[in-house]
Amino acid sequence: MTQQIDSDGRLRHLLTLDGLPRETLCRLLDRAGQIRDTALGRTQRRNLLDGTTVCTLFFEPSTRTRSSFQIAAQRLGADVLNFDASASSTRKGETARDTLRNLEAMGVRGFVVRHSEDGAVDALAEVAGEGTTLVNAGDGRSAHPTQGLLDALTLRQAKGADFSRLKVLIVGDVKHSRVARSDLHALRTLGTGEIRVCGPQSLLPDDDTLAGCTVGGDFDAMLEGVDAVMMLRLQRERMEEGLVASLDDYHRDYGLTQARLGRAARDAVVLHPGPINRGVEITDEVADGPQSLVLRQVSNGVAIRMAVLETLLG
Ligand code: CP
Repeated sequence: MTQQIDSDGRLRHLLTLDGLPRETLCRLLDRAGQIRDTALGRTQRRNLLDGTTVCTLFFEPSTRTRSSFQIAAQRLGADVLNFDASASSTRKGETARDTLRNLEAMGVRGFVVRHSEDGAVDALAEVAGEGTTLVNAGDGRSAHPTQGLLDALTLRQAKGADFSRLKVLIVGDVKHSRVARSDLHALRTLGTGEIRVCGPQSLLPDDDTLAGCTVGGDFDAMLEGVDAVMMLRLQRERMEEGLVASLDDYHRDYGLTQARLGRAARDAVVLHPGPINRGVEITDEVADGPQSLVLRQVSNGVAIRMAVLETLLG
């Protein structure tokens, strides 16, 4: 795997939170907290990245990640190129590697890459030129590091910096979720007191992903006393694979309702990375209710992505 930290200890790429030093992770969270006003457009944009071109190179759809990287780069003064795979020579069979090398030849320095294959962004980082930096915006089921960072920032704002006091529950399709993997890496690095993971057996990984977690299939029992519930999107394609019996069954067993949320701590908070399947993994009442931090996660996404681009390219 490509080293994301260079020999001088600087972050060269952001490919994963796995193994990212706590100091580096906390520095990104701190910086995102400091620039939140600029991220939200309340203060003037900065010109740190004037003359730098950042490309959002997405081979899979996205609303939040792509838009927030675009806004983040623009608020830092960068030029942004939004690469649309569906209207590009990818359709003629051009590889991701050739696409990257050609865009590099046009002077693009920063690439924010989403790809359906595990390890695809690492592979591109291997062939990237000396002055090029890559951010993994989600590859296969492996990693979505900026989502892990924005979730950690959102939890820290709500619950304080001492994660050792927290019980956090992750619910749903962990097996296929890059968000869950990056959340787990961040939560472990920040020393979370107890990490619980809940979902149907068919949607839980059978490797060492859940090492050190309390794992169970009884959602009501797992909710007891938790401080935060991190819901995951049910990836509907899993229905076709026969991993879930029906949406109704899934909602009955793993849907977060207001009544169920009553089992968590009184001041528990609810997170969801989006996009939400309303009425499947979470009800409208919870998603839009007072304990939901869903839109705060989205706002924090811009600040985190500014902090990441500033650190890598500034
Ligand atoms: N959370 C997330 O990655 O959303 P998008 O797929 O819309 O980017």
